[in-house]
Amino acid sequence: MISNCWDRASRIRRLKRRRTRLKSRAATGGGFLLVLFLFSPVAQRALYAQSAAAAKHIDFNRDIRPILSDTCFKCHGPDEETRQANLRFDTKDGGAFEPREGYRIIVPGASAESRLFQKISSKDEAFRMPPVDSGRSLTAKQIELIRQWIDQGAKWETHWAYLAPKRPPLPRVQNARWPRNPIDNFILARLESEKLRPAPEAGRATLLRRVSLDLAGLPPTPKEIAAFLADRAPDAYEKRVDALLASPHYGERLAMQWLDLARYADTHGYHIDSHREMWHWRDWVIETFNRNLPFDQFIVDQLAGDLLPSPTVKQRIATGFCRNHMINFEGGAIPAEYHNEYVVDRVDTVANVFMGSTLGCSRCHDHKYDPFKLRDYYRLYALFNNVPEQGLDGREGNAEPVLELPSPEQQQQLDELKEKIAAAKAALPEKEITALQGEWQKTALTTIPSDPRDGLVSLYEFDSDLADSSGHGRPTSWDVATTATRAKW
Ligand code: HEC
Ligand code: HEC
Repeated sequence: MISNCWDRASRIRRLKRRRTRLKSRAATGGGFLLVLFLFSPVAQRALYAQSAAAAKHIDFNRDIRPILSDTCFKCHGPDEETRQANLRFDTKDGGAFEPREGYRIIVPGASAESRLFQKISSKDEAFRMPPVDSGRSLTAKQIELIRQWIDQGAKWETHWAYLAPKRPPLPRVQNARWPRNPIDNFILARLESEKLRPAPEAGRATLLRRVSLDLAGLPPTPKEIAAFLADRAPDAYEKRVDALLASPHYGERLAMQWLDLARYADTHGYHIDSHREMWHWRDWVIETFNRNLPFDQFIVDQLAGDLLPSPTVKQRIATGFCRNHMINFEGGAIPAEYHNEYVVDRVDTVANVFMGSTLGCSRCHDHKYDPFKLRDYYRLYALFNNVPEQGLDGREGNAEPVLELPSPEQQQQLDELKEKIAAAKAALPEKEITALQGEWQKTALTTIPSDPRDGLVSLYEFDSDLADSSGHGRPTSWDVATTATRAKW
C-alpha cells in the first residue's frame, strides 16, 4: 500500500479521479474496504477466477500448487528425509523439469509424454501416483486440471506473495455506461454476476464527508459542508481534494497506520507502563508524510539515519523507529534477557513491516518449510545489536542512549549555563592548588610512621592463613585451632 500510494503526484491524480470511485463505493455499500481489497492478490485471483473460467486458463498457484501440496509434498516436498525418487514439487528446480534417463517428468505442452501425468492417470496401481497405500488420492477433476495445466505449457509460479502485482484485464460488463473508472468495471462485473444492481449515487455532502475522513481523518465542519454545497463550479470537488492534501491533517491521517506498524507509544509497555517521550519521532513521521519524502529515504532514515555521513538531527530522530520497542526496568528482571528481547523486537518488526514476512520462527530453529534460516535471523540480529543500551533502563523516562532535543528557549538556557560553568571553572585557583598539594605531599610523606605496625593490636591478612600476624594479640580460638591443624599435617 505504502509504496503504491507514495508518489504524491500519482496519488493526487488518483484522488482527482476519485469522485467516480466514491460513487462506486456508494453503489456497493461495501465502502472503502472493498476498494482496497481489489488491489490485494487474493482479490485479483478471485477476479481472475471469473475471467479465467471462461478462457479455461489454469493458474499454477490457484489450481495446481494446492493439489501437489496436499497429495505429493509428503514424499516429493521440502523434507529431505521423506523425499522419494529425488523429486520435489515445492520448487521449480526440484527435478520436475530436468530430463531424466529416457523420459521427462513434465514436458510442457505434452501431458501424454509427461511421466507425471502418466503416473497420476495410470490404471496400474503399482505404477500410479500417489501410491495406493499413501492414504492420498487424486479426483478425476484434479487429474484433469493437471493435464490442462501441462498442456497449456506447465507455467510455474513462485508463491503469490512474491509475485509483482499485474494489471488484470478489465472484466466485461453489461451496463457499459455505469463505470467511470476502470475499478468500477470490477465492482459492476461482480454485482452483475450476483444479479445485483448498483445503489443510487450518494449526495454531495456524503461525498465530502468520505473524502475528508479519507484524507484528513476528520469529518468536514458544517461550514465546510455549506461552502462545498454552495460551490457549483465543475472543479469544486478537485479544489476540496487539493485543500485536504495541503492540510497538515493529511500527514497525521497517513501517519496513523505507520505509527501502529512501528509500535509507537510514549510509554514503556512493560511493568507499570511508565512514561517515555517518542513523540518527536511521531512528529517526524507526520512531517515526512506532509513533505512527501520518497519511500526509500523514509526507510533509510528510520533504519540507519544515524549512520549516514553527517546525519541531520531529523535523520537521527527518525531512528526512533528502532527504539519504539517495549523497555523494562522491573526489579529482579535479568538485564541480558531484556537486552536480547529488544534486539529480537527490532528484527521481528523490520521483517514484518518492511519485508511483509514474519521472521520470528527462525529465532530458535530452522524450519523445513521456511525460506529463512536461523543464520539469516542472527545476521539481522547482529546488525541491530549495536545500540549502546542497557537491558534494564527507563525508570526516569527514556532509556539510554538518548538524543537531547531542547526547545530553542531551553537551548538558550543551556548555552548560558554552559558559559557560566566555563567562567566559574576558569576562576578556580587550579594552579595554586596543584602547587600547594605538591608541597604538602613532600612534607606529609616524611611524617608517615616508619613502622606502621607500631601500636597494632592484631592483624589478619587475607592472603595468609587468617591467623593473627601482628605478634601482639592474645591467640584466639581460631589461632589455636589452625596451629593445631598445621601441626598434624
Ligand atoms: C507416499 C509417498 C508418495 C507420495 C504421496 C507420492 N509419491 Fe510419487 N513417488 C514415490 C516413490 C516411492 C516413487 C519412486 C517409485 C516409483 O516411481 O513408483 C515415486 C515416483 C514418482 C514419479 C516418478 C519419478 C521417476 O523418475 O520415475 C513421479 C512423476 C511421481 N512420483 C509423482 C508424484 C505425484 C505427482 C504425486 C502426487 C500426486 C506423488 N508422486 C505422490 C512416493 C510418493
Ligand atoms: C523461543 C524459541 C522458539 C521459537 C520462537 C519457535 N520455536 Fe519451534 N521449537 C522450539 C523448541 C525449543 C522446539 C523443540 C521442542 C521439543 O522438542 O519439545 C521447537 C519445535 C518446533 C517444531 C517441532 C519440530 C519437530 O521436528 O518435532 C515445530 C514444527 C516448530 N517448532 C515450529 C515453529 C514455528 C512455526 C514457529 C513460529 C511460529 C516456532 N516454532 C517458533 C523453540 C521455538
